[in-house]
Amino acid sequence: MLGDIIEIAERLWLIEGEMPRDNDRYPDAANVIVYRRDDRLYLIDSGVGPVMRASLERLIEKNRPIREFTLLNSHGHIDHIANNDLMAAVPAASKHHYLSAPGFKLLDGPRYFTRLYDTMNTYYDTFAGFQARQLKYRAAGLVRDVLAFGVGKKRALRMLIPLGTRKFEPVRPSRDTMEAFESLARQRIPLGGEAWTGWVMGANDVLVLEDRGHSPDHMLFYIPEHRFLYAGDATFEFFSVWPDANRNATRNSIAKCVQMVKRGQVQLFADAHHHKVMQDPHAVGAFLEKLLGDDETFQRVLGGVLGDHPGLTIPEIYARLRHRRHIPAVRTYLDREFPHAPPTLQAVILLTLLDMGCRCEGPRRKKRFYPV
Ligand SMILES: [Fe+2]
Ligand SMILES: [Fe+2]
Repeated sequence: MLGDIIEIAERLWLIEGEMPRDNDRYPDAANVIVYRRDDRLYLIDSGVGPVMRASLERLIEKNRPIREFTLLNSHGHIDHIANNDLMAAVPAASKHHYLSAPGFKLLDGPRYFTRLYDTMNTYYDTFAGFQARQLKYRAAGLVRDVLAFGVGKKRALRMLIPLGTRKFEPVRPSRDTMEAFESLARQRIPLGGEAWTGWVMGANDVLVLEDRGHSPDHMLFYIPEHRFLYAGDATFEFFSVWPDANRNATRNSIAKCVQMVKRGQVQLFADAHHHKVMQDPHAVGAFLEKLLGDDETFQRVLGGVLGDHPGLTIPEIYARLRHRRHIPAVRTYLDREFPHAPPTLQAVILLTLLDMGCRCEGPRRKKRFYPV
């Protein structure tokens, strides 16, 4: 349940976030990890909302005295950073706060989401892609188009972005306390078959692993003392949620995680939006392999749809996909889309097709797609 404090191992906790059934009304909140090593306390992300905040405050209080406090943000998305201002209240002699450099521009939510929606609107009408609350989003699309005549399409979009982000308020990313991971010396981190690059915190306390798949700033974390791997949003079912995602980077990272599991380096596993801790390495391996398999199947199914019907628009491809619900991977994706998670499947379809290198042509918002 939201805000539950789960003791994963000695001095290692997960504060449970939430993926609400109705993402239109409620914010999704990423899990938060808290870890203590000697007199050092680490926080990975800060979640969203007063319930998570109260649990965080309780855990911080319980861990006093703290000599060194470090907040590590997995990336700059709003569901991971809203309680970052807790930094100010933590009683510690020394405090640090890190986010990867490309994430700083994600912190300006309205500007960031305007840019992303504007990019996707080149190909299809993103507001018409919402399958739940259709009336609300179609009306918003209409308002957007009317406003665009007066103030231009970007400003019109920007005025409507709070429709999707105000449920996260208050959002306090504590920009003033942030430093870039990149200000520290980047290291080669030999885990799994292929080495990662990243940063080592404290006395080998927390390893920050460069992912840059889910978003350009996205990081994974590994706590050697407990062989605990935290995958953040890398293991969310959709590998391409926004146009700045890098699906191949996500696939590479997950493949490296599989290698770590095979080498016995992962005893405990969690991520941001599956609100549980996995303690069986076989189950972790199977979970990771399924993510990779579903992504491949989804790409193959999309390729098949376009092969059979070249020249479809995004909503037309989506309609055909709904008829392929008998394919387990397609069913998983359909069941995970808005309002059961923030992204619409039409956005995921678009970004996967672009990633596959599919050709498209036609007017703005009505592009037709052709096989590679
Ligand atoms: Fe994210
Ligand atoms: Fe997230």
